[in-house]
Amino acid sequence: MKFKRTKTCGQLTDKDIKNEEVLCGWVHSRRDHGGIIFIDLRDRHGLTQIVFDPANNKKMHEDAEKLRREDVIAIKGMVRARGKDLENLKLSTGKIEVLVNDMEVLSRAETPPFEIDDRVEASEELRLKYRYLDLRRPKMQKHLLIRNKASEAAREYLSKNNFLEVETPMLVRATPEGARDYIVPSRVNPGKFYALPQSPQIYKQILMVSGCDRYYQFARCLRDEDLRQDRQPEHTQIDVEMSFVTANEILEMVEGLYKYMMKKVLDIDISYKFPRISYNEAMEKYGCDKPDLRFGLELIDVTEIANKSDFQVFKDAKKIKCINADDKFSRNEIDDLVKFAMQNGAKGLAWMKATEKGLESNIVKYFNKDVQKKILEKTKAKKGSILFFVADKEKAVNEVLSKLRLELAKRLGIIKENDFRFCWVVDFPMFEWNEELNKWEPSHHIFTAPKKEHLSFLEKDTANVYADLYDLVLNGIELGSGSIRETNPETQERLMKIIGLSKEEARKKFGFMMDAFRYGTPPHGGMGLGFDRIVALMCGYNDIREVIAFPKNKDAECLMDGSPSEVDDKQLKELRIKLDWVRKK
Ligand code: AMO
Ligand code: AMP
Repeated sequence: MKFKRTKTCGQLTDKDIKNEEVLCGWVHSRRDHGGIIFIDLRDRHGLTQIVFDPANNKKMHEDAEKLRREDVIAIKGMVRARGKDLENLKLSTGKIEVLVNDMEVLSRAETPPFEIDDRVEASEELRLKYRYLDLRRPKMQKHLLIRNKASEAAREYLSKNNFLEVETPMLVRATPEGARDYIVPSRVNPGKFYALPQSPQIYKQILMVSGCDRYYQFARCLRDEDLRQDRQPEHTQIDVEMSFVTANEILEMVEGLYKYMMKKVLDIDISYKFPRISYNEAMEKYGCDKPDLRFGLELIDVTEIANKSDFQVFKDAKKIKCINADDKFSRNEIDDLVKFAMQNGAKGLAWMKATEKGLESNIVKYFNKDVQKKILEKTKAKKGSILFFVADKEKAVNEVLSKLRLELAKRLGIIKENDFRFCWVVDFPMFEWNEELNKWEPSHHIFTAPKKEHLSFLEKDTANVYADLYDLVLNGIELGSGSIRETNPETQERLMKIIGLSKEEARKKFGFMMDAFRYGTPPHGGMGLGFDRIVALMCGYNDIREVIAFPKNKDAECLMDGSPSEVDDKQLKELRIKLDWVRKK
């Protein structure tokens, strides 16, 4: 390079007027005005207007005529004030411009497949294929910056609180987190495979045995699962584990971490204590275990009242819950919401309007005055508002109404922007019944400790065994999950038995951790905190791909590097792998 950069494109202000500076960057846009060329020069710090005036330097002006979008240049020039009415107060550099005296073209760019501009929305496919161009957009640069600030803040906080960052291996024995493993063949041990870690769960527990006391890691976790907006095959967790603590101490520590991050990254004070909601209460009021607390619209159980109506569907229903939308809806809107509910698994969506004369709807004739009165009392429906009912088995009712609750909030426009409503969901059941496989499964993972007072009925009343198991939730998104761990070998054995895991199987899978536990194990617990998700929410997105530099598409492919890809026969041979698969020609 001919010149040495002296300032970034976001740095110059009117204090620099009359200085000679060198800027480097990309040609963002070019405008020709009466023989003078104006270029916005861009780097990740901002934009600076540079000026090529033939009266100042004829050769430079001629060279500037050949510049195209996204060419990379270095310029040397004099900072000067823009004319008074030419200032752009939206830009930090908007009061000045740089009159170019010299220039070096560092790289010429082909016409990019889409414009590098926040206002231009390229297709998902193009954005992922040309991710380097997508990442040039100021918006994406901002996401990377916020991600970096968030990790910096988390490290600061955890380090202040005496956590030790320890890296754990990427080539491991499979971790039982519940998703499928990505596996890696071992060349030197033919026929044997490593797994990529679904999380460092077992390793961090072993670190507690080794006396690490407080551990954290920005851990890459790899899971072969079906992808959604908030799921990627690779994600990052702020993974923490602590010794000699109660669940309460872990919750306080993590709450402090999120408050610190919100302040440092977004300058937002979260002054309230994160409410703690039991799993049962969350299911009752919100129909799901990740409640969005930015709005009310709670679910109201009217089973007892509605069972007494003459409406056949309600008379026989196991569960009937409703939402008081607390607002008016037109007939068309109601029909739309009925459709929405049916698409989301409802057998039907009944509705009633509260009016001067009492309740009104197509089914109100089946509800006598007394039942109507009780419904109005229980739902506190004010005149004009509308009630939506779903009757079914409890699980189905909750599933539909939790979705309808969100949909209603969206349609009513009651979700405030920049509102961050954290909460804890605590006291989850230890096990979940898997209807398909007809067996109990751990609701989190098998290393979780059941509540001590529930140990006496572990086998007898498995459904009612609860655990010190907690989730952190923000605006309806699960940010993290953790538990106090079970370290007593006898209890562990009982837990394995309930989920149908034989002693031999358990030994094979994580016998090494159980061995470690025999040599002096501190009581411990911790959490895995989805880092991509908190960063996405900080940036105002639900889609975590917006905050991951190189994400995969929904088929788990990287459109930029073309992975996954086929490998050479030579490589397969070395690994002693034969494909049960015919390659497409
Ligand atoms: P869990 O499996 O609940 O717990 O994961 C913890 C958190 O990680 C995030 N997360 C994901 N983010 C993006 N893409 C994914 N595919 C994905 N999967 C999970 C979520 C989730 O809440 N070892 C335990 C934690 C512990 O017990 O300490 C674990 O991994 O935000
Ligand atoms: P039907 O008699 O099936 O035409 O239903 C009469 C009304 O009850 C319609 O408004 C349906 O949407 C509603 N409905 C039917 N099944 C259910 C259900 N399981 N829960 C709530 N509403 C229902």
